[in-house]
This record gives sequence, C-alpha cells and structure tokens, in this order.
Amino acid sequence: MAKIPAISPSRMPQLLREMPKAELHIHIEGSLEPELIFALAQRNRVPLPYASVQELRAAYAFTNLQSFLDIYYAGASVLLKEQDFYDIAWAYLERAAEDHVVHAELFFDPQTHTERGVPMGVVIEGLARACRDAQTRLGVDAQLILCFLRHLSEESALQTLEEALPWREHFIGVGLDSSEVGHPPEKFLRVFARAAEHGLRRVAHAGEEGPPAYIWGALDGLHVERIDHGVQAIHDPALMARLARERIPLTVCPLSNLKLCVFPRLADHNLAQLLDAGLCVTLNSDDPAYFGGYLNENFLQTFTALDLGAQQAYQLAANSFEASFITEAQRQKWMHELKACFDRFVEHD
Ligand code: ADE
Ligand code: ZN
Repeated sequence: MAKIPAISPSRMPQLLREMPKAELHIHIEGSLEPELIFALAQRNRVPLPYASVQELRAAYAFTNLQSFLDIYYAGASVLLKEQDFYDIAWAYLERAAEDHVVHAELFFDPQTHTERGVPMGVVIEGLARACRDAQTRLGVDAQLILCFLRHLSEESALQTLEEALPWREHFIGVGLDSSEVGHPPEKFLRVFARAAEHGLRRVAHAGEEGPPAYIWGALDGLHVERIDHGVQAIHDPALMARLARERIPLTVCPLSNLKLCVFPRLADHNLAQLLDAGLCVTLNSDDPAYFGGYLNENFLQTFTALDLGAQQAYQLAANSFEASFITEAQRQKWMHELKACFDRFVEHD
C-alpha cells in the first residue's frame, strides 16, 4: 500500500468528502427517509402507525438489530409501485453522488415486497431504472444485489431466486440479511449454490451480532466473496488470520453498529484494529436514513472518534475499490483518480 504523507487534521474533513469511494453495504430500503415514507404513504394511501415525521423519528431509538428491523419493515410497507422503487433508489444515488461515491452496490430485499403482493418485476425494474439514470445523469455506477431474508425459510429464498431470474441481467449478486442470531448461514446452502450456478456474486451479513462461527459458515458453506459487517471476527484469531491472508473484504458500518448497540461508543469501535490486522476493511452506511448519516458522515464521525488520518483514509478508499465487483479496468481508473485526489491535498498542505 502506498505510503501517504500526513495531512493536517483541519483539512481531513475536506479530504474525506472529496476522495472518490465505493459504497458496498447500503440497503436501499434503509435509505427511506421519514419525509419520503410519509409522502409515499399519502401517495399510495397506506396507513402508518405514526402521526407525524417527528413521531416516526422519535421511534428510532434502537437497542439491537431486531428492534431496528421491526421499524424498517414497517417503513418499507409504503413501497408499492415501480415509481416508488425508482424514487428511493434515485434519492439515495443523488445523495451518494454528493458524497463522491463513484460506484455503489445496492442491497434490496424483494421478499419484504413480494410478501405484500408487490410483483418482483415492479421492484427490480424501478430500482434498475434509477441505476441506469445514475450512470448517465450523475456519473455514478450503480449495481444491485438481491438479499434473502434469513428469518424466512430457505424454500422462500429459493422461490425468490427463481422468481427474480427473468430479471437476471439487472442484478450482479445475492446477499443474506435480516435477523442474524438463530439463523446461521448453513440454513441457506442450496440457494447460494443455485445462485453460483447462475454466475451471481455472493455476499452475506455475518458477525454483526452473531458469533465468528457464522463468518466461517458464510465463507465455507456459502462461499461468499465478502462479509457484511464481520466485526465479531475480532474474537477469533484464526479467523482474523484467514481474513487477512485471503484478503476477504469486510463491509463495516460504524454508525449502524453504534445505533444498534454493537459498540457502546464510536470510540470503542474496532475498525482501526481490523485495519491494523491487515484486513481489507471498507466503510459503509448500511441504513443511512435510520442510523444518522450517509457515507461521508460515517467517515467524518469515525475518523474523529478513532483519531484516524490520511493513511487510513487512503486505505479505506482503496479497499472499497479492491472489494467492489467491478472490472480491473474500472478499478485502475478509480485508483488513478484516488491517487490524483491525494496528490492535490499533499501538494497544498
Ligand atoms: N437489513 C437492513 N439492515 C440490516 C442490518 N444491519 N443487519 C441485518 N439486516 C439488515
Ligand atoms: Zn446491512
């Protein structure tokens, strides 16, 4: 990794904002802002159990993953039409462009919608149309990853994959999310094998609240290429050594971990330890509308809390491109832009 000269602390926020970066862990349903929830509820005549935006926001006091998921699924109930899916993806992509995200891989949870009677094509076509517009109108390269809800059965996941295959060209991979503890990766062996047969990339949430054994299971059972979260790996030295040796990326989400009480304070987050151990750590927003910040806010708050500098900024941005499902040519292009950005800051320091 390139050795980066120190940059004065006063200029770090600007560097963090301006550097090109990829976001690899963002649930599109988690970018649904309370204002948009209310606007869509009105547009689609969906009743909400909250009287106002303020009342909804006041409910965002989470104690763990499940307490968040209950509210997150309720919020997603306002999404019914193709235009709704377009609107949430477009709102996120416009916001991501402001944070200088040049490449984004967006998770979506089709079962949250198909279980309510929304057709698969409505979900995927709306999201895919926003991704196409992001390329032409924002210069942001956006791709979709279909996630299976792990609190549901593998049968349901298999059916969901089959149902989505007519839109195969619109998503690049599959993931696994929702309630982790009690739903180990081994529950989904067959559906991940089916996805691999279709040439889909594979990722899974593991080691967010669940034990290191779930990370082993995702690697050896599901053959995933990245681990989403993975912060519990710190408790297993053999796993840490493997993740470092094989450069298996972790998509870490500090503000999410703070809001879901995985760490008591941001200053207690283990991101710096994971980086120091040589892991391919990336920084991401997870569900920005619920956790108090989009990608740059995650960078700014984490860098302040952990007292990180230019070397770690460069490392995290470079890791985001290394961990992305992009071509080698794209990676070289973004790395060139990243280096040019750091050169500008070093020259002027
Ligand atoms: N779905 C949306 N956000 C999630 C998270 N942080 N963990 C598991 N499933 C999720
Ligand atoms: Zn997540």
